[in-house]
Amino acid sequence: MKRPADWSGHFASAQPVDVEIGFGNGDFLVRTAQTQPQRNFVGIEQQWERVYKTLKKVNRSEIDNVRVLLVDAWVALERLFLPRSIERIYCLFPCPWPKKEHAKHRLFSQSFLKLMNSRLKPHGQATIVTDHQPYYAWVLEQGEGTGFLIEAKEIATQYNTKYERKWVEQGQEHFFELALTKKEHVDVPVKEDVTLQPYFIDTLDPRQFKFEKVSGPTTVVFKELIADEKQKKAMLHLVVAEEKLTQHLWVAIFPIEGRWCIAPALGQNFIPSQGVAEALQAVYQACQGS
Ligand SMILES: C[S@@+](CC[C@H](N)C(=O)[O-])C[C@H]1O[C@@H](n2cnc3c(N)ncnc32)[C@H](O)[C@@H]1O
Repeated sequence: MKRPADWSGHFASAQPVDVEIGFGNGDFLVRTAQTQPQRNFVGIEQQWERVYKTLKKVNRSEIDNVRVLLVDAWVALERLFLPRSIERIYCLFPCPWPKKEHAKHRLFSQSFLKLMNSRLKPHGQATIVTDHQPYYAWVLEQGEGTGFLIEAKEIATQYNTKYERKWVEQGQEHFFELALTKKEHVDVPVKEDVTLQPYFIDTLDPRQFKFEKVSGPTTVVFKELIADEKQKKAMLHLVVAEEKLTQHLWVAIFPIEGRWCIAPALGQNFIPSQGVAEALQAVYQACQGS
């Protein structure tokens, strides 16, 4: 998929694009897409089982205006959507991370609200609904300086999603809704792919391989090295973590024109990021025993 995506090319008709973050089992996403065929919907969800369940619902309902992304919402908005491209964003019952020491995991921080603002069209809207009053109050505080007008109110049960039903079963009757309207544009540039350069070495001796963990804004952790002497090929498994993006990366080392080439292995899905470029450099250094 091209990054940032040209969403009109991913749908049958060029219509306004709305986004649901953390769609879970897809109840709201599919129902809303059915009732609003004049709009296109992109769902973002980080758990595969939920994406799978939703894809089955999309197939059964025979709608053609839903696409789903299995990715973290930060990564999706930073890299896949152009500024001023989305009309509405929904997020129903985001994980509230109620414990103080876990608050850093909360999604709707001031920086994330700025990112949402940047990707919304002028006057674009976002709706966040939570069952958790402290989370609602926290998001309101985060709104300062994000270019949004935020209206906050208590609402009755109305979304009929898995988590809303769960809270209702446990006796909750009211939820908390934040309606955000974009008043001023906040500029957050799209994170672009990096052009990766392969590295070349003259000799390869896996016994001399010495990987130094990379730490800093990017962390690169070495997991394993598999060397096939017969095929004259080696594969390395690394974990590359940078800001909001963590990727498992396989790097291949193979002979070419009398030398050894170090490059990302073919057939895997990854984002060519600055962290991946640093990981390749670290492999190059490790192959030289330094
Ligand atoms: C509490 S569930 C709510 C699901 C659904 N909206 C509902 O109301 O039933 C929160 C969902 O958000 C997803 N999620 C949490 N953080 C996310 C992120 N950073 N990017 C994408 N999805 C995320 C979780 O995987 C989970 O499915």
